[in-house]
Amino acid sequence: MAVGSQTIALEEPGWKESFSVVREYNPDGIVIANLSATASREDARAAVHMINADALQLHFNIPQELAMPEGDRNFKGIIEQVARIVETCPVPVIAKEVGFGFSRESVQRLYDVGVRIFDIGGQGGTNFIAIEDKRGGVFQGELNSWGIPTAVSLLEILASNLQVKIIASGGIRSAPDAAKSLALGADMVGIAGSLLRILLHQGADELDRWVNDFLYRLRAVFLMSGASDIKTISEKPVIVLGPTAEWLRARDIDPSQWARR
Ligand SMILES: Cc1cc2nc3c(=O)[nH]c(=O)nc-3n(C[C@H](O)[C@H](O)[C@H](O)COP(=O)(O)O)c2cc1C
Repeated sequence: MAVGSQTIALEEPGWKESFSVVREYNPDGIVIANLSATASREDARAAVHMINADALQLHFNIPQELAMPEGDRNFKGIIEQVARIVETCPVPVIAKEVGFGFSRESVQRLYDVGVRIFDIGGQGGTNFIAIEDKRGGVFQGELNSWGIPTAVSLLEILASNLQVKIIASGGIRSAPDAAKSLALGADMVGIAGSLLRILLHQGADELDRWVNDFLYRLRAVFLMSGASDIKTISEKPVIVLGPTAEWLRARDIDPSQWARR
């Protein structure tokens, strides 16, 4: 489980408990800290310490900031800042998008400064431009389709042939979505919006049921595909059709060229 941005708890310590509770309830699980990619090295360490995190997500939310009337407008030096955090952070750093996906080129730049895990947060699910628009954002609906769809971003990263771990997230709503991501080559899958909507409108029991059903269906898809684990499903042949295939052609990406993991 990854927490939301911990900036608020670093600025107002009264909020710390609303983050550390995640570790209290989940003492042995994987818990991931979260801060902006523009955070300082000191804040990065403090965020990890706050929840005894196993990894730190650094989110890149430039479109969201630009959509906010009061958002940041200056992102100069962000890559250098990430490099400094990677050098000093006691746990692995994950570069994370928040609804707009990563291109091959941006992944390469982050790889060059030491990032080895990417959380796609691609377009197709929670959309922070649309959310900010509803709160009086400055884009007024014109940029709601901005971003790289999750499947496309995953293929872009795989095509780079870099030795990285990939978390597929952004619009994952079902077991087939998750299975397809893993078959394409993702190492993990992340879901946020779908789970929160069930929790909010139907409660915790319904969320438990949904997760159990999801896991059953995921196992069913693996069995029906003849795959026993993530490695074997990633070795199955995949067929990419429609606009995603067109994107790959336009970007000169040949799926037979990348090293499947
Ligand atoms: C209510 C809500 C709050 C979020 N807050 C953060 C955040 O603070 N930091 C962050 O990196 N991502 C945040 N996200 C983005 C998710 O972590 C994730 O990238 C994305 O929502 C996954 O896609 P999905 O919601 O379409 O499943 C938030 C998402 C939601 C729904």
